[in-house]
Amino acid sequence: MLENVSLRPYNTFGIDVNARYFKECLNLEELRELLPFLRQNAFVVSGGGSNLLFTKDFPGLFLKNNLRGIREIERSNREVIIEAGAGENWHEFVLYCVEKGFGGIENLSLIPGCVGASPMQNIGAYGVEIKDTFEYLDALEIATGELKRFNLDDCAFGYRESVFKRALKNQYIICSVAFRLSLHPTLNTSYGVIEAELAKMNVLEPTLKDVSNAVIRIRQSKLPDPQHLGNAGSFFKNPVVEAEVLANIATNYPKVPSYPASDGMVKLAAGWLIEQAGWKGKKMGAVGVHELQALVLVNFGGARGSEVFELSQRIVDDVEATFGVRLEREVNIF
Ligand code: EPU
Repeated sequence: MLENVSLRPYNTFGIDVNARYFKECLNLEELRELLPFLRQNAFVVSGGGSNLLFTKDFPGLFLKNNLRGIREIERSNREVIIEAGAGENWHEFVLYCVEKGFGGIENLSLIPGCVGASPMQNIGAYGVEIKDTFEYLDALEIATGELKRFNLDDCAFGYRESVFKRALKNQYIICSVAFRLSLHPTLNTSYGVIEAELAKMNVLEPTLKDVSNAVIRIRQSKLPDPQHLGNAGSFFKNPVVEAEVLANIATNYPKVPSYPASDGMVKLAAGWLIEQAGWKGKKMGAVGVHELQALVLVNFGGARGSEVFELSQRIVDDVEATFGVRLEREVNIF
């Protein structure tokens, strides 16, 4: 175990704080050896560091989960079950599946982070969430050292939600995740921007690779690359509100975008609310709101995490004052 390690390379915001302890685990045995320590100390488990904001030095253990390996578990005429280690890079895993002709996660191309983090918040984009192809995951129970299998229902997936963020928070370390992918995929291009991008690419009969490429092009055109501009993707979740809240907003803003959600609720676009409140492209010292996608907060270089947090608080307050809607952060704050 290392001590007092800078986390700058380990969070996509590029915030320079120290972790009191640091350990990278490459296999299950190394994880098991750490369990007594995890039972006694604060810790954060991270794969790609793409959903974390550190506002101060972290007083516990930063555990980089780097369990690797991709294997085929089962295959029929129609489907294949593929299992990947938690430390596999998500996008590389998607590309591996696309190359092999395994369909179901191509719309999730270029999402930063690792496979192990994908179920934590049921990552999603362009009409697809991982719960749609999720088969099972294996996770190490910290209290007992047992490897337990979680099936779809056990994970309680919701919009950017799972049991691992709620009832079972900090109780398990996800070791591997398996997906049921199709050998004869039906492509999901219904999301308007994908259709438009495929048309721009002059693709009439898209393949898995074409859809993946379209998603990559869309994301690259709107979302900043953390290698060049520190960020953690969407900083806020899209708020789910009562239909009446939407109706109130629509009286002044007839074009307000909204999507149906469960139980008669509606989902609003946080990026739109933030833009209408005047924050898109705004800079505050070393931090700011991305000029092309208002859901993304960025570190222009050398920012402290507390500055990002303060900016996010001002946005939350302003959006609430303007629209009566309280935004929730998607990024985990430490
Ligand atoms: N919009 C604006 N201004 C903005 C941004 C968006 O008016 O600055 C409007 C758009 O015009 C559109 C609506 O808001 O009408 C929705 O925008 P978009 O389709 O770009 O998606 P999003 O709701 O902003 C969500 C996910 C993204 C995911 C995209 C595509 C969340 C919190 N974010 O963004 O996920 O890539 O849909 O499916 O659900 C992430 O989680 O890190 C992430 C990038």
